[in-house]
Amino acid sequence: MKHTPHNGPRHVAIIMDGNGRWATQRGRPRLFGHHAGARRVREVVETCPDIGVKYLTIFAFSTENWKRTQVEVAGLMNLFRRYIIKEAKSLTHFGVRVRFIGDRVRLDDKLIELMNELEELTAGNTVVNLTIALNYGGRDEVARATKRLAQDVADGKLMPENVDEETLPKYLDTYVLPDPDLVIRTSGEARISNFLLWQSAYSEYEFIDTLWPDFGREEFTALCANYGGRSRRYGGVGT
Ligand code: FPP
Repeated sequence: MKHTPHNGPRHVAIIMDGNGRWATQRGRPRLFGHHAGARRVREVVETCPDIGVKYLTIFAFSTENWKRTQVEVAGLMNLFRRYIIKEAKSLTHFGVRVRFIGDRVRLDDKLIELMNELEELTAGNTVVNLTIALNYGGRDEVARATKRLAQDVADGKLMPENVDEETLPKYLDTYVLPDPDLVIRTSGEARISNFLLWQSAYSEYEFIDTLWPDFGREEFTALCANYGGRSRRYGGVGT
């Protein structure tokens, strides 16, 4: 899918960075920043239909984030649980279909149950596809996918000679999603930190200085408009 009819990105992925610094600048604990960050998610989701974004994928917790203090990890897990409970109604009302990607095994049972419920509750919605990456790492995802693929080969369901670029993505967590057209990272860091490694091979990137709790409708709209002005050549010469 090379060109979207409206020329803007159809799938935007966001690395929501800078919550901790935003809180520190205000003399508050890091979790204060994460709570402020969670409040920005709704505004960004609600902007999507107005600018033709059908898929929004956000990086909420990485496989590396377990290295943070126990207080911060527990606070974030608690925030995710509360977010799902609190936002379920408005997400449904707005027509948002929610999916989660990442490895669920390390997450606690209550959180997994809430995630499953929200996925089921919103399964019929079509206005925006919101994918929340939780305990997600691109390398971990590729490793888990490869394990399943290898199992299919071992079971005789897949022939090694038939494995190509089209095969592996079918085993990724994102198998139902198109690749992201645009990846945005807030807070001034210019790296992708293990996010959607396979899927973002041809994505455009925007690294912006704004800290995530200060990001909103206006800047999101401007970045998507900026994308519309670029020409993507996918390694070819272009038109
Ligand atoms: C990065 O900021 C942010 C995170 C690791 C957590 C992202 C979570 C949210 C935005 C909140 C909730 C999201 C949902 C879906 C409810 P950082 O802590 O790395 O900031 P820093 O780089 O300034 O320290």
